[in-house]
Amino acid sequence: MLQQSEPGGHPPPAVLRRSRAEDLPAIATVDGRGFGFHYRDEDIEAFRPLFEPDRFLLAEDDGRIVGVTGSFPFDVTLPGGATLPAPGVTWVSVAVTHRRRGILRALMEEQHRGFVTDGSAVSLLTASEGSIYGRFGYGITTLHRSVEITRRRATFRPGTPDPGGVREIDTTEARQLFPEIHRRWVATVPGALSRSDTWWDNVLLDREWQRNGGTALFHLVHADGYASYRIDQGERTCRVVDMVTVTEEAHAALWRVLLAMDLLETVTVWSHPLDDPLQYLLTDPRQVRTTGIRDGMWARVLDVPAALSARRYAAEVDVVLDVHDPFLDRGGRFRLRGGPDGAECVRVDVGGPTVSVEVAALGQLLFGGERATTLARAGLLATEDETALHSVDLAFQAECLPQHGTGF
Ligand SMILES: CC(C)(COP(=O)(O)OP(=O)(O)OC[C@H]1O[C@@H](n2cnc3c(N)ncnc32)[C@H](O)[C@@H]1OP(=O)(O)O)[C@@H](O)C(=O)NCCC(=O)NCCS
Repeated sequence: MLQQSEPGGHPPPAVLRRSRAEDLPAIATVDGRGFGFHYRDEDIEAFRPLFEPDRFLLAEDDGRIVGVTGSFPFDVTLPGGATLPAPGVTWVSVAVTHRRRGILRALMEEQHRGFVTDGSAVSLLTASEGSIYGRFGYGITTLHRSVEITRRRATFRPGTPDPGGVREIDTTEARQLFPEIHRRWVATVPGALSRSDTWWDNVLLDREWQRNGGTALFHLVHADGYASYRIDQGERTCRVVDMVTVTEEAHAALWRVLLAMDLLETVTVWSHPLDDPLQYLLTDPRQVRTTGIRDGMWARVLDVPAALSARRYAAEVDVVLDVHDPFLDRGGRFRLRGGPDGAECVRVDVGGPTVSVEVAALGQLLFGGERATTLARAGLLATEDETALHSVDLAFQAECLPQHGTGF
């Protein structure tokens, strides 16, 4: 329940209810005010196909919506290739007139209780501020970097493949070809999120306000990859906004085209994987300049046995994890036995080498985005058994760094 107001303090608390289809314009007003912009009517209607009213929870005060949280249905890939259905928390905002009196906490409690009831093993979000979601059990799962490349100085190393096979296509053809390539990419990358048909329609709507002074999207496709970009004529820049490659041939082929655009000075990528090999295809790796590193997706484990037994492990591991979850009380002691071929995880009372871990840190470990030894140095994971720590450290590493690939 929402906290009660103190005598002489805040107005009465808000009440929570599920949203209805007709709430969307009012929800957009709360969200727009929260983030500091006005939604136009056509933007609200463009969002409607993605809006599933019963996935949105509202806080109302005196009949007026003063708080919102929603979720999108995704499938997320785990290390080893299995997927889990996972709600992606979104549209979180509380009216500026009603902040810091527990409305977000009440919305989060109700929403996450619903996720547990629905049987979700993990929930996901992207955060506007880094200090909000740790208390709700979320830990940073993907990092990405923005890069800038001065095109004329970016020379491919002799021996870098030049496979060709890239075509320029329009948005209609992109809509036909990209989803299948994206599905293949999602299957191989831990943390990657599925995109539904509705999501693809929305991505490729390419609304004016998303362009930030750039052109409408241009698209390149290869049999095993694609890139969507816009040109900023003023800055003489190509801005890559969405790119996935399933093979190294597609990666080299698309980058050769992106770096071949005469008349442009720079190519920028907002969300470049930390372990992308592009810089090593060039004679001067420094030409892929990192201009920022940001957290991307955060994850929260809701069902420890279901989440941990679904992934694969880089090395054999047999350990008891003592999970600490003050927000939802989904923690306890769990024995994990796993390896490259499979895993099982069950609740136990006692036994075995034990590693204590905050539930937020478990979300980080789950996708292989952070090493157990790093989390231990930060005090988010603890053990008196160095061998157990080493074993967890090795086992939870993933085949590549996690990427989520879809903002939400
Ligand atoms: C972030 C936001 C939703 C918080 O709503 P709220 O109703 O004021 O939050 P609550 O009062 O329920 O606070 C819950 C807890 O989070 C903390 N908290 C809330 N907002 C915080 C912030 N911006 N930074 C750090 N801590 C915050 C509170 O101190 C409180 O801590 P506690 O319960 O552990 O003591 C609201 O400030 C907002 O709408 N901001 C603008 C939009 C935004 O950033 N949304 C998040 C999108 S990811």
